[in-house]
Amino acid sequence: MAPKIALVTGASRGLGKDMALNLAKKGLDVILTYNTNKIEAEKVVSEIVQMKRKAVALQVDMANIKSLDSFIGQIASALKSNWNADKFDFLINNAGTGATIPISQVTEEAFDNLLNIHYKGVYFLTHKAIPIINDHGGVIFISSGTTVFVFLVILFILQ
Ligand SMILES: NC(=O)c1ccc[n+]([C@@H]2O[C@H](COP(=O)([O-])OP(=O)(O)OC[C@H]3O[C@@H](n4cnc5c(N)ncnc54)[C@H](OP(=O)(O)O)[C@@H]3O)[C@@H](O)[C@H]2O)c1
Repeated sequence: MAPKIALVTGASRGLGKDMALNLAKKGLDVILTYNTNKIEAEKVVSEIVQMKRKAVALQVDMANIKSLDSFIGQIASALKSNWNADKFDFLINNAGTGATIPISQVTEEAFDNLLNIHYKGVYFLTHKAIPIINDHGGVIFISSGTTVFVFLVILFILQ
């Protein structure tokens, strides 16, 4: 059976890197993405290849929604040249930034960036990737425990 292929965004470091390595340990091949840290992303690829799994690193800036069509094209090319495949199996939407900026210092650009990376980009990457995800594949969205806390606060206020 052909190995399953997972695409992990933001896997040059942090949680994404950890997920990419652990998926490879479990026998999956990995397409991982980076934004600025190409060298670190290539190191993750090397670690996965040492585990006798296939991996490639692609660049994407999730804040740049207009680049997502070309990114999907890069995924399709990588699938064809590395796996002779048209589709992959799992999309893990992980890329993100943890920057917190005091409200008095937030610019409109920083605000748009945050929403594009964590919301609009994730939505449209998933939307555009669905046609190249195999049946019985999956999409995972990495969020934050803080969202549960906010939800509980809203419930408390509404009581
Ligand atoms: N760590 C936590 O405690 C925590 C808590 C709650 C939620 N989260 C969420 O979990 C996810 C991973 O967190 P992390 O702590 O592992 O983050 P991290 O170590 O800061 O790594 C972030 C990853 O996302 C990539 N990235 C950043 N901006 C990007 C952009 N504009 N476009 C595409 N990729 C971009 C980075 O790529 P480059 O390095 O190549 O630039 C890097 O690979 C994030 O979505 C974060 O919001 C984390």
